[in-house]
Parts: sequence; structure tokens; C-alpha cells
Amino acid sequence: MENYFLKWILTFCMFCTVSGEGCSLELKPSRVVVGFGEAVSVSCEASRPVRVLGWESAIGAAHTQQDRAVQWKVDSLIDWIEEPICYGVFFTAPRQCEEKLNLILYKTPDSVTISSANHTGPMLEGKEYQLLCDVQNIAPVQYLTLRWYRGQTEVYNHSFSDLTPASPVQVSSILLITPTKADNGAQYKCVAQLDLGPEGPQPPPSVTSEPLNVSVHYPPSFLSPEAETLDIGVGDEITLNCTATGSPSPVYSWQSSDPKEKMEDQPVFTSSSLLPGTYTCISSNKIGKKSKQFIIKTKS
Ligand SMILES: *[C@@H]1O[C@H](CO)[C@@H](O)[C@H](O)[C@H]1NC(C)=O
Ligand SMILES: *[C@@H]1O[C@H](CO)[C@@H](O)[C@H](O)[C@H]1NC(C)=O
Ligand SMILES: *[C@@H]1O[C@H](CO)[C@@H](O)[C@H](O)[C@H]1NC(C)=O
Ligand SMILES: *[C@@H]1O[C@H](CO)[C@@H](O)[C@H](O)[C@H]1NC(C)=O
Repeated sequence: MENYFLKWILTFCMFCTVSGEGCSLELKPSRVVVGFGEAVSVSCEASRPVRVLGWESAIGAAHTQQDRAVQWKVDSLIDWIEEPICYGVFFTAPRQCEEKLNLILYKTPDSVTISSANHTGPMLEGKEYQLLCDVQNIAPVQYLTLRWYRGQTEVYNHSFSDLTPASPVQVSSILLITPTKADNGAQYKCVAQLDLGPEGPQPPPSVTSEPLNVSVHYPPSFLSPEAETLDIGVGDEITLNCTATGSPSPVYSWQSSDPKEKMEDQPVFTSSSLLPGTYTCISSNKIGKKSKQFIIKTKS
């Protein structure tokens, strides 16, 4: 009987229900953050004599006619649409009060994965690529920040505060990169972090993706590409250095104006019996090739 009576009041007496400021009910704590499957308990306290005090909720509903406090208690919270309301029916006006619990049920993601969205294999310097971060089964998504890192440096973050679902969802974020030489060997990763406020766990729970290793291909280039002229005396040892940077690592070949000169396919060439003439080195990889000239003259 009692429950029917309360239902009747709650349903038909909307205009005489007070909540917030003028309400004589206090929830302790007023905001709760609960991990999926964890226990929760909140006390509702009335600050003046109350006829009935209770919690309306799909689970953990309770009421009392003796006390000025009643507990909402769940051993393992797994209900995504739980919105517990504490109500009080009083002897004096306002006759009815209610206070909705600010309840946040959260779940850390099952997985956070990073991948290259529109290509496989090495990247080319100066072209644009999409990296994709995929987050599975996170809630509530409006508290999620996805942070992108290159090495240890945060390069971009993505918030989802405009979304509203309370239950777990899948979300993703795209990072556009235009790799340079310096990106060769760089590691990208993304971190899904739930910022649940001061009532939530500290530090905020986060899940980090595996790193994505980026390899960037670019043609060989010389530190000083211009031709070098060397004056040598008879028997002087000279070193011709054709070392270039490139990715993949360049291979080398030499050409000499003297067809009798045998030169190995090495970046650095050393000899003490070099004849005057022009020596050309070619550094190449599958992206491109560059050549460099060494002009040997005899000291006069
Ligand atoms: C990847 O996508 C970006 C943006 O849509 C585009 O500019 C780029 O050309 C694409 N890269 C490849 C290798 O398809
Ligand atoms: C996201 O990045 C911007 C700069 O790009 C920064 O100002 C802001 O504080 C970052 N937001 C968070 C939540 O870290
Ligand atoms: C990425 O690079 C790190 C070190 O630079 C290495 O330990 C790791 O095995 C690499 N991962 C992949 C998938 O190649
Ligand atoms: C050749 O030049 C490169 C830089 O271009 C340098 O790092 C390297 O030490 C040089 N090698 C010799 C043997 O001088």
C-alpha cells in the first residue's frame, strides 16, 4: 500500500515537488564516480522531520519511515541508465522534495589501437598520411581525451565532450602527418584518458596504444653537394668522402676519367696513388640518385 501511495505522489504531485536549493535533502556524497562493476553507497539525509524518506531506483531502492537518513547501496553497479532519485515526503510545506544523484559510471576501454589509415609500408617524405586511433568500449565518452604523442611529445588531443551517451561506445581520432626526414624511426602512440573530476580515481585512468614505428623514405643528399677540388703532391694520401644521407641507406658507385683506376663501391675512397683527373661518385637508393664530383690536380 505504502509504495502505491508514494508512486501516486511522485506521479501526480509534480508541481508540489521541490528539488535543489529549497529542498531539505542532502546527498552524501553529492557526486559519485563508480567503476563498472564496483560497489557504491550514497546517503540521503533530511534536515527536517520527514514522514517517508527513500530512494527511487531500478536497483537498490529503499525507504524509511523512522530515520532521517537512508542509504542507496549497490554491491556491483553495471546498469548504464541508473538515475537514482532520493525523495522525501514531509509533514510541513514543501510537502515533497527530491534530489537526483549525480552518478557517473565509467569503464576504461577494452583496447586502444593505432594504425596507419590509408597506406602500408614506409612513408614518403613530404606526402600526407592519416594515422588512426581506435578506442573500443569506453564510457562515458564525454569525459574522454585522446592524446596523440610523437615520442614523448604531445602533438594533438581530441575531446568528445559534445557526445552524450552514458553507455560504452567506440570512438576514433585521425591525426594527419606530413613526415620529414626527422620522422624516420619516430614512434607515434595515442593515449585514452578519462578525466572524471576530483571524485574520480587519481591519476585519471588511461590506456596507451602500442607504439607505431614510422619509417620514412627519402633520396640521398650530400652535406656539401658542390664539386671538390683537391691539389695533391706525388704520393700524398687523399680521401674522397661521398657519404650521403638517405633512406633506405644509399649504395655507392664511382667513375673515373682514368679507366684503369679500379674503385670499390664504398662511400669513402682512400688512395696514395691517385692520378689527376675527375672522379664522380653516385649515391643512390630506390627513391633517387645524386652525384658528386672530385677534381684532382697536381700541386705545381
Ligand atoms: C591519405 O589521406 C590523406 C587525407 O585524406 C591524403 O591527403 C593522402 O594523399 C592519403 N595518402 C595516401 C598514401 O593515400
Ligand atoms: C589540447 O591541446 C591544446 C593545444 O593544442 C592545449 O592548449 C590544451 O590544453 C590540450 N587539452 C588538454 C585537455 O590537454
Ligand atoms: C619499433 O621500434 C622499437 C625501437 O625503436 C622496437 O623495439 C620495436 O620492436 C619496433 N616495433 C615494430 C612493430 O617494429
Ligand atoms: C664523411 O663525411 C660524413 C659526413 O658527410 C662524416 O660523417 C664522415 O665521418 C666522413 N668520413 C670520413 C672517413 O671522413
